[in-house]
Amino acid sequence: MTNPARPDMSVELFGVRFKNRVMGASGTVGYGLELLDSLDISRIGAVVTKGISALPKRGNPPPRICETPAGVLNSIGLENIGAERFIIDVLPELSRHDTNIIANIFGETMSDYQRVASMFRGVKEVCALEVNLSCPNVKKGSIAFGRDPDTAARLIKKVKKSTDKPIIAKLTPNITDIVPLARSVQRAGADGVSLINTLIGMAVDVEKRRAVFKNITAGLSGPAVRPVALRMVWEAASNLSIPVIGIGGIGSARDALEFIMAGASAIQVGTANFTHPGIMGDIVEDMETYIKDRNINTLDTIQGIITRKHS
Ligand SMILES: Cc1cc2nc3c(=O)[nH]c(=O)nc-3n(C[C@H](O)[C@H](O)[C@H](O)COP(=O)(O)O)c2cc1C
Repeated sequence: MTNPARPDMSVELFGVRFKNRVMGASGTVGYGLELLDSLDISRIGAVVTKGISALPKRGNPPPRICETPAGVLNSIGLENIGAERFIIDVLPELSRHDTNIIANIFGETMSDYQRVASMFRGVKEVCALEVNLSCPNVKKGSIAFGRDPDTAARLIKKVKKSTDKPIIAKLTPNITDIVPLARSVQRAGADGVSLINTLIGMAVDVEKRRAVFKNITAGLSGPAVRPVALRMVWEAASNLSIPVIGIGGIGSARDALEFIMAGASAIQVGTANFTHPGIMGDIVEDMETYIKDRNINTLDTIQGIITRKHS
């Protein structure tokens, strides 16, 4: 069968159509506009914003980033301008570009999460909320809710009640078994899950004889985490009926296809945006080429093929 010159890369997830399965991961693409120097963002499926809270937040003191042999440790601490400024100052400009906008949200308490979710009610430019249950770099909220399946479910139920949008629960890899957590947020009403957030790591400055980061630990991302992320995405996708968005060390179309074959419906690119600005455009193009060259009609044909072949 002959393929059209440009294959259809689009996908529908939780009632939203995305032009392709490549999204910019939260915290690595700013509020989207920061990408414009290196990438036409209308080429990618979605921009996931930096984590947004109801009120502005300052974040952690420097240093905030430390390179590792195959990725970075970060301790940004969720610095952001707050939902109101994002909606008034950033969104009008960002929504001029033809891509979907997903707002990544967080809070220190469950009612903070509800508050920020309700601030996006009726904001039509934002197609979904990604609920951060997994940042390891803050003392309150986030990962504190995201490690226990029952607590995570309670939070998801509350957020779900506070919004008119589909919600994606962003899960932590810093637990023993991802399946009970993923199942629990699905039961609680999550429309999708995304994983992984960063793995807890640390670094020591041997000259100063102290930890590099003020919080001692920080979040590891980049190529080093990819095999772990892939395994967790496969485990989650094999056990859920809602879409799984794969994240972790993706820096090429080949990496992205690994996640899709493991069951991901879409993928997010994070740390690779720092080392290769503009990489997400190449990933979309190279995925198109993969499909065309192999005469595959759509990525649906290969999504989850690993699970199907081994069951
Ligand atoms: C500098 C930096 C800031 C991040 N900020 C956020 C954030 O605000 N909210 C969030 O949910 N994840 C945040 N993340 C996690 C990423 O979205 C992603 O889940 C993680 O880095 C793994 O993907 P990667 O290996 O492709 O970077 C951040 C990651 C980095 C490196």
